[in-house]
Amino acid sequence: MSLEAKGMLKHYLEQRLLAGETHVGVRPGTLERMQGGRRPASMSPGPVGRAPQGRASMVAEEAPPTRPAQPMMTTKSFLESTAPVAAATTRTMSGGSAATGRAPAGVKLAAAAAARIEVTGETKAEKLAALASIAEKSPEARALGTLRETMVFAVGNPEAQILFIGEAPGFEEERQQEPFVGPAGQKLTGILKAMGLERRDVYISNICKFRPAMEGNQGTSNRAPNDAEMASCLPYVLTEISIIQPKVIVALGGVACKGLGIGEGVMRLRGRFYDVQGIPTMVTYHPSYILREEKLAGGGIRAKRECWEDMMKVMEKAGMPINDKQRGYFQK
Ligand code: URA
Repeated sequence: MSLEAKGMLKHYLEQRLLAGETHVGVRPGTLERMQGGRRPASMSPGPVGRAPQGRASMVAEEAPPTRPAQPMMTTKSFLESTAPVAAATTRTMSGGSAATGRAPAGVKLAAAAAARIEVTGETKAEKLAALASIAEKSPEARALGTLRETMVFAVGNPEAQILFIGEAPGFEEERQQEPFVGPAGQKLTGILKAMGLERRDVYISNICKFRPAMEGNQGTSNRAPNDAEMASCLPYVLTEISIIQPKVIVALGGVACKGLGIGEGVMRLRGRFYDVQGIPTMVTYHPSYILREEKLAGGGIRAKRECWEDMMKVMEKAGMPINDKQRGYFQK
């Protein structure tokens, strides 16, 4: 098993545990391959279904406790069995993210995940202002030559309990130098209203602080940031998180999810909390996706309902009350 695979396995198990999955199915031989023949006492064969012998795998597959497809063991004991190897792996891969054990989405992102910016200031607002002026210069971002000039840092309450992270500013955000003020922003503002919040109650940021540039006359066109562009801004975003220390982070869409090192595939990852710098982070749809779905037959009801379910989990995690009217949205 490669060093990278061991790091990924540790990350996977931590996320499953955070998501409340207490058991995983483990293919025969997996632990032996990882640990040179040592089999932990806590591993017991499951009642049914073993994978065919000799089918090599380092992936701990999810299996519901009632119908296990693999021999079962607790997620925690598997994690403990793998931790000593995997922790070293993570350190080797990212040069510093071993403390959180997060597996990076890409090599550039992994390197950026290790970096933090030192800022001075008495209050959170002062520290954020200091960070914004450092980000404005951002030699890493500017050296790429693929991001536009104007920085759009963030907006909202430095004391917020909830921090939303999107992709990157678009045309309207660049023009107004404020995140989420275009059509997707109006949708986000609507979601906040349903939660009983206003924009000034939360903190809204982007995984990339500059509008990604396009060939020729860009006009109002926008594109998602690539790994290198996200990596150039990631130290600012991670420092922002450590200054604000919100109760909950919301990753809006697959790009933010990847940039934060959670993984790829918003459809698969949404609806659960993941650990980003020790802060529970909910993955949900980007408001633009909901806007696109609304134009299709069905009016985007599924996407809106699922997003609302995610937001109720966020409200609970943030300690916000949820009234009957809110619980009743999307119920037939
Ligand atoms: N989409 C984003 O992800 N961020 C913005 O600021 C605007 C649109």
